[in-house]
Amino acid sequence: YYYLEDAPRISDAEYDALRARNDAIEARFPDLVRADSPSRRVGAPPASGFAKVVHAEPMLSLANAFSVAEVGDFLERIRRFLGLGEDEPVVVVGEPKIDGLSISLRYEGGRLVVAATRGDGYEGEDVTANVRTIAEVPEAIAAADFPTVFEVRGEIYMRRSDFTALNARLEAEGAKTFANPRNAAAGSLRQKDPEVTRARPLALFAWGWGEVSAMPERTHWQMLQRLKAWGFPVNPRIERITEMAGIARYYEALEADRALLDYDVDGIVWKVDRLDWQARLGAVSRAPRWAIAQKFPAEKATTIVRDIEIQVGRTGALTPVAKLAPVTVGGVVVQNASLHNEDEIKRKDVRIGDTVVVQRAGDVIPQIVEVVLERRPKGARPFAFPTRCPVCGSLAVREVNPKTGREDAVRRCTGGLICPAQIIERLRHFVSRSAFDIEGLGEKQIAAFWRDGLVRRPGDIFRLPARQRAGELKLEEKEGWGAKSIANLMAAIEARRRIPLDRFLYALGIRHVGETTARLLAKSFGTIENLIAALEAARDPDSEAYRELIAIDGIGPVVADALVTFFEEPHNREVVEDLLSEVTVEPVREEERAASAIAGKTIVFTGTLEHMTRSEAKAQAERLGAKVAGSVSKRTDLVVAGPGAGSKLKKARELGIEVLDEAAWRVLIESA
Ligand code: IVH
Repeated sequence: YYYLEDAPRISDAEYDALRARNDAIEARFPDLVRADSPSRRVGAPPASGFAKVVHAEPMLSLANAFSVAEVGDFLERIRRFLGLGEDEPVVVVGEPKIDGLSISLRYEGGRLVVAATRGDGYEGEDVTANVRTIAEVPEAIAAADFPTVFEVRGEIYMRRSDFTALNARLEAEGAKTFANPRNAAAGSLRQKDPEVTRARPLALFAWGWGEVSAMPERTHWQMLQRLKAWGFPVNPRIERITEMAGIARYYEALEADRALLDYDVDGIVWKVDRLDWQARLGAVSRAPRWAIAQKFPAEKATTIVRDIEIQVGRTGALTPVAKLAPVTVGGVVVQNASLHNEDEIKRKDVRIGDTVVVQRAGDVIPQIVEVVLERRPKGARPFAFPTRCPVCGSLAVREVNPKTGREDAVRRCTGGLICPAQIIERLRHFVSRSAFDIEGLGEKQIAAFWRDGLVRRPGDIFRLPARQRAGELKLEEKEGWGAKSIANLMAAIEARRRIPLDRFLYALGIRHVGETTARLLAKSFGTIENLIAALEAARDPDSEAYRELIAIDGIGPVVADALVTFFEEPHNREVVEDLLSEVTVEPVREEERAASAIAGKTIVFTGTLEHMTRSEAKAQAERLGAKVAGSVSKRTDLVVAGPGAGSKLKKARELGIEVLDEAAWRVLIESA
């Protein structure tokens, strides 16, 4: 999952931590290793769109070390495995671990024949056509010492400077930008059209090899020198090291220069230099014993929180973002950091004016690690999270999960239909297939109408035909519109001036009111007026109206609260009224409403039923939202009486309670 998109949801550091925990658990409890464990996989399975390539030699992954000491342990394990004498040095090669994507370049007879991504390590994607457009990848090698079959393995990456320029270009074109150089490299390499890849500044560092017909060297170091001589770019910071002191020195030097390099480096790869030793060491599961990746810690810096801004997403979620005094973290200028949600701010107690430690863990959005309390300015007050939407002023609420009793972490704006942050998404939903189903009105058109001020709320859609006729819209002068598409759209709008209640309700996009719930509400209340009146009466959770609302089968407190909150909000009421001035909501036909005659009612069965058992009848009634009671009282709404009914029937008659025979009952429920 982490691997599957070029847009990771968690940081590399978080992923590494989770992986390490998983590995530790699996090491202790081997029985718990699942078939789909990440430890059994090396990257992602091939995505569709490119042909598959089976690697002649698998493309392995690397085990991780998180400190110089752990690199020491790695070397100790190697000594033990090989049974080396005390003064026998283990020469290693240190290489920057380039944060790009691995590639296998297969040369036959000195010509590039296949370029494949790593994929799952055994089978990758054929990206030959795209790779041929990369200037740094040699098309042919003329050198006499180049083996007949040679697979070069290396990293495709994008220089930071090229990445910045590419993003600027994409932004100017109105295209989606990339989050980081690695995603940019991955996205550029996986283009359907090689010409797009050609326009992307991709680069290569060779760090190894796969199948080789005849090995020309005996050490890794010498192989890298050959690769360089053959014309493959090899990283200039590679070093051959013999002592632990050298390892620590190399680590410190590279870590110090990390931000200054023009490419992202996420650690160091240490490799045993002697190839005969590499062969003896072999691999365990997915990683060679002769190499290890020493990961750099997440890059950190301190800066000041100038402000905490609340952003409102398309679905109404309020997300706090810390606006920071610009600071360079790992070569990238950071000015914003996500604070995730209200609780997170409280937990970290981040206040405006605070000095904070920010970290850029690999890629994703920078995070605030902690507050430097010693530097808190006097008078800094805890951040008061707004309870109103900063964009539209509507109430913003945190829902309570009735099962856990816990508040949702996310506070949401309730002004969906009037909130500029949400309106495009809401309108898109409003006209969608199961809602108003207005063909010819897609997100693009909606966004354009919104931009031009023509559609600000749903009711405006129904004013478009008249305004078009009056010559106010001048759609025909706008891009993407022709006489025919305009006529079609206006006809589609007119055709929806009458709408069934359930679609109307669903279209409003009230939280937790999906199609099924909308149908249920429509059946239960019959008309929009009834529903609105009921919701008004249900504002008080202790009211009879509220109890009746949640007594409807399928409507619990969550839906009830969402409905009440929606209709309580004056802005929403206005929007609905405005819409109702343009459209007619068809009431639900009586037969369809039958179920509502039962929902929430208390029913008593008495006497014998011919077509069903008593428990069957009871279950059916309950499914339709009724409560089934054993005895008749003032609170009984309906009595179903079969032959042999006695005292209960008598009592029902006395109390004036409606009585049905089995046949009438069946008619009632069958139409439900
Ligand atoms: S050696 C069997 N060297 O890191 C040897 N890998 O986490 C496998 N990488 O898939 C890899 N720079 O994509 C090696 N100098 C380097 C590297 C490097 C980046 C990547 C490579 C590999 C991943 C393993």
